[in-house]
Amino acid sequence: ANALAGEQMAGGTTLTRHIMTKRGTAIPVADLALIMERIELIAKRIARELAAAGLSGEHGYTGETNVQGEQVKKLDQWGNQVFLDAFEQGYPVCSLISEEMDEPHHYSVNCPDNSYCVLYDPIDGSSNTDVNGSLGTIFAVKKRAPGHSHGIEDILVPGTQQLIAGYILYGPAAQLIYTAGAGVDIFTLDRTLGEFILWKENVKMPAHGSVYAVNQANAGKWNEGARKFLAHITSRKDKRTSYSLRYCGAFAADFHRFLLEGGIYLYPGEVAEGGKAKGKLRLMYELAPLSMIAEQAGGRGTTGKKRILEIAATGIHERHPIYIGSAEEVALAESFNVEG
Ligand code: F6P
Repeated sequence: ANALAGEQMAGGTTLTRHIMTKRGTAIPVADLALIMERIELIAKRIARELAAAGLSGEHGYTGETNVQGEQVKKLDQWGNQVFLDAFEQGYPVCSLISEEMDEPHHYSVNCPDNSYCVLYDPIDGSSNTDVNGSLGTIFAVKKRAPGHSHGIEDILVPGTQQLIAGYILYGPAAQLIYTAGAGVDIFTLDRTLGEFILWKENVKMPAHGSVYAVNQANAGKWNEGARKFLAHITSRKDKRTSYSLRYCGAFAADFHRFLLEGGIYLYPGEVAEGGKAKGKLRLMYELAPLSMIAEQAGGRGTTGKKRILEIAATGIHERHPIYIGSAEEVALAESFNVEG
């Protein structure tokens, strides 16, 4: 098996080479390359750390809660610092928005008017850290408006304005998946070469799949439509109502299955007593990036009522319900009026 893997890498296309020869992106290739060179470094640092996290004691909680009221894991904070360090050199990225920071972080050195903002969740699915489960890093890039100063109105614009979106998956192998608006490409980290090598190019998500992913234990809190949708896809009347459930608790890892094999990930809104349904996942650095990947691959991402990429945020940590994956399954969910 080693020989086979080695053979495949022998004439492999590195991420850098692939980007330098990329055509049709909305962002100039020189800027794309500069930004992705940083993301690649981040991916390698996190992949290396996760492989050794059990040894280095990075597991466990810090005792703090983040802006979302969730307990912070040591790895979340460390992963955030990896981004802060990587972009310290400024241009072309001069602003960072992170799940782990209340407010945007702006660099002031080497930051001319034509700069970019990176939005990210450094360690996605962090409840998996203590059990050696799959984890992810999700990111998106938007252009900053000239003369933006420290305001963020130009970043709150809908996800259709994202220039780059992607995620890194830390599973048995580390993979980097990204789009710059010209298709979705997947790279696998060859740890001995220290290079991300092209694995699949211009990936298309199957229009239909036979798997769904959801935290089903929450079903009692969903709208009736979402419960009916679940009942339908588990009713086993025929092939089209006989789905399998696969859920690992890391959005990027669950989504990855659907990108490759088709199916649907859902995190329906949960209805608080007497209130309206609220989503859990964050728009700016979880839902919008993966929706851009989904759409670029021919799939879809919606709140159940609205296309994710058309939502303008009112705040950087805003949450929404999500139904994302194969076009057919997402349309099926919508037909059940899942969010009322
Ligand atoms: O960031 C939110 C997240 O950790 C996702 O990665 C994951 O899909 C989801 O929450 C898991 O939520 P739950 O613990 O409710 O299943």
